[in-house]
Amino acid sequence: MTDAGVMQYGPVVFRPTTEADLGLVLKLENDDENASFIRQWPIDQHRSALADDNIAHMIIQKKSNKAVVGYIILIGLKNPNRSINFKRIVIARKGEGFGRASVRLLKKLAFEKLEAHRLWLDVVEFNERAYKLYESEGFVPEGVHRESLKQGDRFVSVNIMSMLAHEYRRQSDAPD
Ligand SMILES: CC(C)(COP(=O)(O)OP(=O)(O)OC[C@H]1O[C@@H](n2cnc3c(N)ncnc32)[C@H](O)[C@@H]1OP(=O)(O)O)[C@@H](O)C(=O)NCCC(=O)NCCS
Repeated sequence: MTDAGVMQYGPVVFRPTTEADLGLVLKLENDDENASFIRQWPIDQHRSALADDNIAHMIIQKKSNKAVVGYIILIGLKNPNRSINFKRIVIARKGEGFGRASVRLLKKLAFEKLEAHRLWLDVVEFNERAYKLYESEGFVPEGVHRESLKQGDRFVSVNIMSMLAHEYRRQSDAPD
C-alpha cells in the first residue's frame, strides 16, 4: 500500500485502490475506448502494485457523490533520482473535465507530497486528446521513442513528456 493517502482538488478525489476496485480497473483498462491508448496488466500485476510502496495505485472519485470516474498509477515513489513515472490514467466519463482535474491533482501529489523532482509520462503518437491535455498542463515534450510499441501487426511511436519541480512551482505561483 502506498502512503500517498487521500487527496482532493476541484471536482475529484484520489483514494488508494483496493482489491474490491480491481474488477472495475480491469474493465476500464480493457474497454475498447481505452485499450489502444494504454497497456494492459493482468490482475496479479495490479494486485502486487497495491502492495508495493514504490507505486501509488489510486481510484479517482467524483467529490460530490463519490462515484468512481477512473484510476491512476504512479511508479517510482522511492526512485533515488526522484523521477516519478505517471504510468497510467483512465477516465471513464470523458470530456467532462475529470481528466484535467486529475492531472492537476496528480501534479500536486507528485511534487508537493511525494517530492518528485521530475514527473514523466509516455503517450502514444495518436492519442491527441491526452497529448493536448498534458501539453496544456505544462508537460514538456522530451522526444519520441520511434515505433517502440507493437500493437497488433503495426509498430507505433511513443512521445515522452515531463515536468520538473521548478516548472511546477513556477506554474503554481502564477495567477490562474
Ligand atoms: C485522456 C483522458 C485521461 C482525458 O480525460 P478527459 O476527462 O476525457 O479530459 P478532459 O475532459 O479533462 O479534457 C481535457 C483536455 O483534453 C482535450 N480533449 C478533450 N476531449 C478531446 C477530444 N475529443 N479530442 C481532442 N482533445 C480532446 C482538450 O484539450 C481538453 O481540454 P479543454 O477542456 O480545455 O478543451 C481520458 O480521455 C481517457 O481516459 N482516455 C483513454 C485512456 C488514455 O488515453 N489515457 C492516457 C494515456 S497517456
